[in-house]
Amino acid sequence: MSAPLILVLNGPNLNLLGTREPHIYGTDTLEDVRLATSRAADQLGCALDFRQSNHEGVLIDWVQDARGTAAGIIINAGAYTHTSIALLDALKAVDLPVIEVHLSNIFHREPFRHTSYPGRAAIGVIAGFGGQSYVLAVAALANLIKTAA
Ligand code: DQA
Repeated sequence: MSAPLILVLNGPNLNLLGTREPHIYGTDTLEDVRLATSRAADQLGCALDFRQSNHEGVLIDWVQDARGTAAGIIINAGAYTHTSIALLDALKAVDLPVIEVHLSNIFHREPFRHTSYPGRAAIGVIAGFGGQSYVLAVAALANLIKTAA
């Protein structure tokens, strides 16, 4: 049997991690986060597909494509978290387990960051642990996938 596939989606500006507002997001690059997440998935017997786009429609296409290929989705939609009903609709449409992640604790920040559309489709939200948020999300999702199998 092949390893269940976890799709990790990253939204706008997350490609700039490492240099982008390091006092908020830290100095790890997105590649560092990918490596740590991939190691965690490996240890849990899951495969990982880790992607980033600055474009809302591309993220929506990737969510739609996950139907039939991925066992679950981890999403950090960046600022689309706070604006994209279209992304929420896509996540609801594919009917896969979703975990939302954020590097920063969005609830400590500006009020406009307190709303999350993907959060309405997510089983849970992990925020505020930097790159470790992704590792925690992989552990949570792998557990959900195994108990559902
Ligand atoms: C973020 C939080 C968002 O508010 C912000 O727009 C981001 C990053 C985080 O991971 O902390 O781009 O999703």
